[in-house]
Amino acid sequence: MIQDNLFNYKKFVFLKWALLLTLVSSFAYLFDQPRINANGGTWLGYTLGTIGALLILWLMWFGVRKRQYANESGNLRGWVSAHIYLGLALSVVATLHSGFQIGWNIHSLAYVLTIATIGTGVWGLTFYLRFPLEMSQVLNRQSPEQIVAQIENLDREATKLIKNSGDLIARAVASSLKQGVFNTRGNQRTGKIKNCATEKAVNTLQREITRSDSLADIYKNQVQRLRALKQLRRYYYMRYWLELWLAVHVPLSFGLLAALIAHVLSVFIYW
Ligand code: HEM
Repeated sequence: MIQDNLFNYKKFVFLKWALLLTLVSSFAYLFDQPRINANGGTWLGYTLGTIGALLILWLMWFGVRKRQYANESGNLRGWVSAHIYLGLALSVVATLHSGFQIGWNIHSLAYVLTIATIGTGVWGLTFYLRFPLEMSQVLNRQSPEQIVAQIENLDREATKLIKNSGDLIARAVASSLKQGVFNTRGNQRTGKIKNCATEKAVNTLQREITRSDSLADIYKNQVQRLRALKQLRRYYYMRYWLELWLAVHVPLSFGLLAALIAHVLSVFIYW
């Protein structure tokens, strides 16, 4: 049996609703012959505007629904699926509502923020689909704190192992022990760092080990340290992007809500 995922949830039920909404709105727009230029002020404009505003309120409600752990009305996967498909359909409804009349005014600001919020939704979806599963796999079902504790144990062991080693190895490993997960905050954006001291120590040990078998333990220790650092780097890289896109999507959606209220109020005040 094929498992429900975000896209095929309940045999694509929300895709079907979104397509229906898009098609009905498009046909209504094509066959509507308003006496004035098509815009938000015709009967169809008001209808599409009302549907769009209700959709925006419902899409925002998802933030509340996500945090209601005891609520059983539909599961979260269904909510995300509906959020994605109906959120995309909103781009068509909002564009037709505007009648393609864009200018420097509060109405267009609401439209631009709608499209920007939808755009960030699509952008975030690319992380949302790939990262959560990889995040749980990359740490082998351990927490980041457990990996950090592993590194601390390795470092205690390494300090003992280098007591009697030569200068070259002692210096390389001493710098390695100071190497953190990232060197700068910017490193988290790429998940990679330049000049990793642990990587350098591994390379030095790899060269020296051919001359002295006694380096086998410290070499193994540093290889494990490097592997743990790489796991954490990948994990924090994914977490960074997962948090960043929501930190753009959510404030934009609140900006949109404010612009929507101003748009609706100004329409009724100047009616
Ligand atoms: C104007 C349209 C939209 C609005 C107002 C909106 C609003 C929101 C809000 C308020 C949240 C909850 C975030 C939180 O509290 O953590 C959210 C989450 C999300 N949105 Fe949107 N959104 C819109 C369109 C879209 C679109 C078109 C997509 C994808 C194509 C999308 C994808 C997502 C995803 C993947 C989440 C995160 C779900 C989760 O964390 O479980 N959104 N959106």
